[in-house]
Amino acid sequence: MRFTKVFTTQLVALSSASPHFARQYETENPHEWIAAGPNDFRGRYPMLNILANHGYLPATAATVVTKPNAVAALTGSINFNASLASLMFDQAIIANAEPNATFFTLDQLNVHNVLEHDASLSRTDAYFDSNHIFNTPRSFWTAPTVTADMLANSKIYRQIESKAFNPDYTFTATAEQFSLGEVAAPVIAFGDMEAFTVFRDLMENFFLNERFPTDLGWSAKEEVVSLGDVQRVAQAIGKVTNLLTGGEDKGAEHGAKVRRGDFHAGMF
Ligand code: HEM
Repeated sequence: MRFTKVFTTQLVALSSASPHFARQYETENPHEWIAAGPNDFRGRYPMLNILANHGYLPATAATVVTKPNAVAALTGSINFNASLASLMFDQAIIANAEPNATFFTLDQLNVHNVLEHDASLSRTDAYFDSNHIFNTPRSFWTAPTVTADMLANSKIYRQIESKAFNPDYTFTATAEQFSLGEVAAPVIAFGDMEAFTVFRDLMENFFLNERFPTDLGWSAKEEVVSLGDVQRVAQAIGKVTNLLTGGEDKGAEHGAKVRRGDFHAGMF
């Protein structure tokens, strides 16, 4: 335990000091993608895994995330502004239970129902032994351009699946807020924040390959991404998670006949 703490403290010092982290082997481009090695830890957080795989975060066994390296990674890779990056770090620091912690590790993020939650878009629930097993509701992304509706449908589907089959299913109001941000994330990082869409191949690459899709023509947004952008996209997706539709009820046209037979409502 003591050894782990000292070791982690050393890693924190190293990771804060160096903008480029030790990698499995040298590459000309310090941000070239390298898959996690057998001793490296990756979690169920696609973006943090990508940042580690591309050398924006330490890529080693205990990937240590400090505020300076989180801000450098998110501003340098996907053009988040520093205050958004800093806020994301602050929201996650509870993962490290030490008082006044200044870092967390990918492993610490994995504690169930702290930040990690049920019904995620790419992994099965913690109840089913390993919450690292892929379970991506790709069948709901029904066109090459994935829309807010499709994203919302896949979110709802995962919640229903969890609620039906996971006896420990938990999904608090806080988890809902995080979940909406996560469902919005592919649009924010790789898609069109005005149309609320993202190409399906970029989504799939994000979730399944955990690498920046530069070979698919992607590059970081030219405009810096702010908290307002994240909120706007998350709200747009939240809005279409509502399962009610608009439109006229035909009941009025069919008059009393339908009304009388309508025993489902019970009270009419
Ligand atoms: C300090 C920065 C960040 C931290 C600490 C963080 C942490 C986490 C955690 C703990 C989860 C797991 C939730 C679950 O159980 O499903 C998660 C999921 C997710 N994160 Fe992040 N994240 C960060 C930044 C980002 C960014 C910048 C993006 C993309 C723009 C992103 C995209 C996602 C997505 C899409 C998921 C959902 C994965 C799924 O549903 O399977 N994250 N993140």
